[in-house]
Amino acid sequence: MTPALPEVSADLFRQAMRRPANAVAVVATGAPGARFGVTLTAVCSLSDNPPSVLACLYRESAALEPLRRNGTFSVNFLAAGQSDLASVFAGRGGLKGEARFAPDAWTTLATGAPVLRGAVAAFDCHLDREIDSPTHAVLFGRVAALVMAEPPQVGAEPLTYSFGGFGSFVPLAG
Ligand SMILES: Cc1cc2nc3c(=O)[nH]c(=O)nc-3n(C[C@H](O)[C@H](O)[C@H](O)COP(=O)(O)O)c2cc1C
Repeated sequence: MTPALPEVSADLFRQAMRRPANAVAVVATGAPGARFGVTLTAVCSLSDNPPSVLACLYRESAALEPLRRNGTFSVNFLAAGQSDLASVFAGRGGLKGEARFAPDAWTTLATGAPVLRGAVAAFDCHLDREIDSPTHAVLFGRVAALVMAEPPQVGAEPLTYSFGGFGSFVPLAG
């Protein structure tokens, strides 16, 4: 007989999802004075033709309506040295909206969305399409421009998140 499997409760699901290491990104939208940004791990490449990405944003996020209105956003994959920024954009410390954006840390590329200096890689996107789940908006971004850090740079290894904590990607020896 097959052993009984535990019911997949929300708690069990979250426990399992703590295990994989994920890249950490800040998704940002808006122009100076009216910028919004959120830390996300639910973000990935979709296709190289056309260059496009996916981001899953909680539907109650303060960034969602502005992002829809602007029709543009950036996906900024953080470096290990930027874990403080990941915390700020996750709302720790209570900062909201424009207050999360440190002066001089951001620039723009093609669309005008805020692009983080020193990100491992930053993708400047037009919002192509959105699919809504009950809890999240799945955003399809068409990449208009990008910048990437030139490895190797100290502190520029990709930031990761696993077991509820930040780490960094280290290649296996050999
Ligand atoms: C490591 C990490 C990963 C996160 N990943 C996501 C995610 O993929 N999608 C999401 O909607 N929120 C995610 N969050 C939560 C948001 O960052 C958090 O709710 C943030 O406060 C939302 O900003 P807002 O309050 O301006 O909407 C994550 C938080 C952390 C710390």
